[in-house]
Amino acid sequence: MIFSATPARVRVPATSANLGPGFDALGLALALHDEVEARVAGTGLVINVEGEGADEVPTGEAHLVVHAMRRTFDVLDTQPGGLALNCINRIPHGRGLGSSAAAIVAGVLLARALVTDGVERLPDGEALALASEIEGHPDNVAACLIGGLTVAWLADGARAVRRDVDPAVTPVVLIPPFTASTEAARGLLPDSVPHRDAAFTAGRAALLVAALTGTPQALFDATEDRLHQTYRAPVMPQSAQLVAGLRGAGHPAVISGAGPTVLVLARGAAEAQAVLSATPDDWTGLALPVDPVGAQIIS
Ligand SMILES: Nc1ncnc2c1ncn2[C@@H]1O[C@H](COP(=O)(O)OP(=O)(O)OP(=O)(O)O)[C@@H](O)[C@H]1O
Ligand SMILES: [Mg+2]
Repeated sequence: MIFSATPARVRVPATSANLGPGFDALGLALALHDEVEARVAGTGLVINVEGEGADEVPTGEAHLVVHAMRRTFDVLDTQPGGLALNCINRIPHGRGLGSSAAAIVAGVLLARALVTDGVERLPDGEALALASEIEGHPDNVAACLIGGLTVAWLADGARAVRRDVDPAVTPVVLIPPFTASTEAARGLLPDSVPHRDAAFTAGRAALLVAALTGTPQALFDATEDRLHQTYRAPVMPQSAQLVAGLRGAGHPAVISGAGPTVLVLARGAAEAQAVLSATPDDWTGLALPVDPVGAQIIS
């Protein structure tokens, strides 16, 4: 097996999953990117991290990008002795903006790029399935890999379809200074929900795909969910209150991913500005355009 002698670089977007009613299925790629460069070395592991999580992420084999690279090299039946990594992190960690998916997608694409026939042996569909297996669910990794709006599902491995988002849609994220654990948030979900809530939410999820791809006027109704946000509110009371306040003012606000970031699918610049002006003290408000492309190897 032959490794590339030159480093590989990848640019991976932040993602927001669920979008209200599309629990574990819908994802949106956002124009906020991590960049990672990796090189195969004879021995050892060198990891440089700048930006988000620089003082917190592990610097050994447990580093999520390295872990995803090792898993991918295993699938490709080869393991380099050593690796050197440079990470520029811009996606905040543990906020519901898909930092773990971005790290995993970066690792899968970098390892594939560093093996000379990697792309032939791990085509895009299989790269998605592998990234989803490492992450444990497909919604964020799908949007991160292929950009735009994605609907992901599991059938014999993860699959996804992608759609362009209506240009009037202007995503705004309101990011709190504190984190929420994805595991803790998942633990609050009930084993079963009333049939009427399931039917209501299925209808809204279908409407949301239509709203995001051509009928943004329907976004307020389309972002109503009865499957997860209410159950998880106790672990993120400030975010739940902010969503309620924004929705009370007519804005299509939801919890981003497992929270605690709040996502508003604003319908144009004026609404985005109004939402940004409601950013609570100590929180960070950002208007982030949709990333239509997703992860890219930079040559
Ligand atoms: N660039 C990175 N490098 C190394 N580890 C990372 C990186 N990004 C994320 N991680 C790991 O993933 C953890 C965050 O994952 P988690 O799934 O809890 O939150 P998230 O992905 O930011 O949000 P969500 O999954 O709700 O969208 C971090 O604490 C860190 O351990
Ligand atoms: Mg995550």
